Amino acid sequence: MLDSVVNINGILTPGNRATVSVFDHGFLYGDGVYETLRSYNRKPFLLKQHFTRLRTSARRLLLQNLPSDRELESRILETIPTVHPTGEVTIRILVTRGVGELSYNPTACPTPTTIIITRPHHNPPDEVIRKGIKLIVASVVRNHPRSVDPSIKSNNLLNNILAMQEAFQLGAAEAILLNQRGELTECSQSNLFAVRNGVALTPPLKSGLLEGVTRNFLFEVGAQLGTQVRECVLTEEDFHSVDELFITSTTREIVPVVSVGNQVIGDGTPGPITSALLAKLREMAQAANSPIEESNSKL
Ligand SMILES: Cc1ncc(COP(=O)(O)O)c(C=O)c1O
Repeated sequence: MLDSVVNINGILTPGNRATVSVFDHGFLYGDGVYETLRSYNRKPFLLKQHFTRLRTSARRLLLQNLPSDRELESRILETIPTVHPTGEVTIRILVTRGVGELSYNPTACPTPTTIIITRPHHNPPDEVIRKGIKLIVASVVRNHPRSVDPSIKSNNLLNNILAMQEAFQLGAAEAILLNQRGELTECSQSNLFAVRNGVALTPPLKSGLLEGVTRNFLFEVGAQLGTQVRECVLTEEDFHSVDELFITSTTREIVPVVSVGNQVIGDGTPGPITSALLAKLREMAQAANSPIEESNSKL
């Protein structure tokens, strides 16, 4: 089993031999977009939603000539048995501006570079789900939507990295970012939810954040479970009064949060709504992944 398999512009390569040009604008300028997917039952989950967000992000950067959804899907499917004969995988799609002159002019790079990195998937350890994680609120604020808009899932991740460096320094698992009005937005690599009086609340898109595919899926999970999940402007003040807190992302699903800085959340243990949403999410994800032939025809 290889650690990773990488498809670069249609060519499959072992991860340790996968390289791109130093003149690729993804490398030079962070000029590109990406998606992270995972498989359930060895099939990519919510593929269509990830492709839609990839194309929306690309459009915002005037990044053109991406391979078709069908072509991307066929490249992804080709990597899965190569990287892992039996288990689940994590898939990262990157589309960069491509190789060209050192210029910010998009016409310098007519052809984007398309990379698919596939690796074995690892769920968060059971202990993390059982005990929950600690977060901090970063001093660095989330990019303003009129700067590098956080709703674009771009390879330009310094805002997230700076926030996460603060978390590493304080032994926290994730960093919450505020916007310039002091509202909670999201974490460096995940969306944030709080539970109060049985209702799961998440910051609205207008607070300035990435519209997570898992975040969106959680509205459906809540509906199936009979738990209300809705948007609500939240601030640090809310940490005193919420009963539960959790983060969501494609690779981590739902992870309970038991403290933010010195503030203990609820009774300091993962809460029942968080656990119920996680169980339902897993059940729905397993059930939703139809055979590959069917998912092909849906695109
Ligand atoms: C900044 C940020 N917010 C939220 C998410 C969660 O998004 P998704 O559920 O689509 O994985 C991610 C995932 O990488 C992220 O980087």
